[in-house]
Amino acid sequence: MSVTPGDDSFRSAIGEVAAILEDYWEDLREERLPVTPDLHPGDVRAMLPDRVPAHGEPIRDVLADVRRVVMPGLVHWQHPSFLGYYPTQTSPASVVGELLASGLAVQHMMWSTGPAATELEEAVLDHLAVAMGLPERFLSTGDGGGVLQDSASSAVLVAVVAALYRASDGRWRQHGTEGRYRLYCTDQANSCVPKASRIAGLGEPTLIPTRAGTCEMDPRALSEQLAADRAAGVVPAIVVASVGTTGTCAIDPVADIAAVCREFGAWLHVDAAYAGSAAVCPENRWINEGVEHADSYAVNCHKWLLTGPPCDAMWVADRHSLTAAMDIRPDFLRNQASDSGDVTDFRDWQVPLMHPFRALKLWFVLRTHGVEGLRAHIREQLSHAALLADLVRDTPGFELISHSLGLVCFRLAGDNARTERLRTELDATHRILVTPTTVDGRYILRAALGSRLASQTSVRNAWALVRETAASIPDDRPASSDPTPTTPTTPVGAR
Ligand SMILES: Cc1ncc(COP(=O)(O)O)c(C=O)c1O
Repeated sequence: MSVTPGDDSFRSAIGEVAAILEDYWEDLREERLPVTPDLHPGDVRAMLPDRVPAHGEPIRDVLADVRRVVMPGLVHWQHPSFLGYYPTQTSPASVVGELLASGLAVQHMMWSTGPAATELEEAVLDHLAVAMGLPERFLSTGDGGGVLQDSASSAVLVAVVAALYRASDGRWRQHGTEGRYRLYCTDQANSCVPKASRIAGLGEPTLIPTRAGTCEMDPRALSEQLAADRAAGVVPAIVVASVGTTGTCAIDPVADIAAVCREFGAWLHVDAAYAGSAAVCPENRWINEGVEHADSYAVNCHKWLLTGPPCDAMWVADRHSLTAAMDIRPDFLRNQASDSGDVTDFRDWQVPLMHPFRALKLWFVLRTHGVEGLRAHIREQLSHAALLADLVRDTPGFELISHSLGLVCFRLAGDNARTERLRTELDATHRILVTPTTVDGRYILRAALGSRLASQTSVRNAWALVRETAASIPDDRPASSDPTPTTPTTPVGAR
């Protein structure tokens, strides 16, 4: 039986989905579910039907399989003890907006194919920029403007394309990169940065060293590298700075980097995929110092801004550099509004042609939470991270490596092998997830706080589990090294 609008079963199916989600969020809040499933590859597939049914089944049977097979096989990203990677979150308001968008099924690749969707997206991105205290030059009321990409990866890629266009005075469209253009970042940049560099035909990025004892780009080293490259006939096309690196949430010195970019005419893209959301709170706006000189900036609202994935907000200071690079207008896309130049056509701001209505979910989030609601959410997560950092600091045998915004990095004192074993044993509990990184040869564990379902109690529970698990790991350090100093000597990435 199919489910069609107007049919009672459509309403009841939506009602059941709402009930499933409400129960799910409550189970997560109460930590009644594990964080990760205990499965082997192929286990889930074996429980699924092996083909499309010849005749349609009732939707309740499909929902029953979601409860029976799919949900138990998920990693629960919204679980309070999911501390891995960076968070991916949502909220009831986002789900409602997304549901509506999926039913409306419009796609505004051009203003003419979705005037309200286009203008709502422009307005939402202007409003969010103001709420985050971003510079006026990113607003669509001037030369700038925002767009919702699917991911921070896409944002970097289109920034690279715009940078190539600008660096070559448009010749890149005819001649390609000819091996002349280069992208710069540090080894702490997210993996999507080298990926974008490769896809755009620039090859591997040039890695700029970090300042001694930190994970932040060294602007002096950047300047020297750009000068040497220019002297060798290379065009420094784009520098990607990170406001919140993936490893330790280090904040690159954007103001100093921007000065170097201006001197060499390089595009500056700021990847603030995780940390950028913190700027809704005025006290965190130091992270964006210098962003007023950036050419583009991106933040994943699906990480820390209560909006379901995918939802990356990207702004550019000069939208014409981007649209000139991306514009391709075959006959079937021509229309009066586009030809007038008076409208925004999001197809020129992204890789795909179609542009889904992501703005609706973000609009629902912004309106129903309000700026104060978003600030309260960020502040609560920051207080959880501060609590965890205190717990690490106060636990003998652990080292607090860094604490930056919602990310706390720690390790067990002694050899890397001890911390590697701790991670393996934590994974085996299925009750917590932390992910590792390596800094200066030290293997460390990252705990990223961000679940809207977390509480001070859940943070204490998570740390109690880490302590208990660590207690079973032999300490082969010399007796004299106890008690272990737990104050970090180098607060990597912290300010
Ligand atoms: C700093 C940073 N940049 C970029 C990304 C990639 O984000 P996306 O998955 O949206 O491409 C991540 C992912 O966690 C990240 O932490």
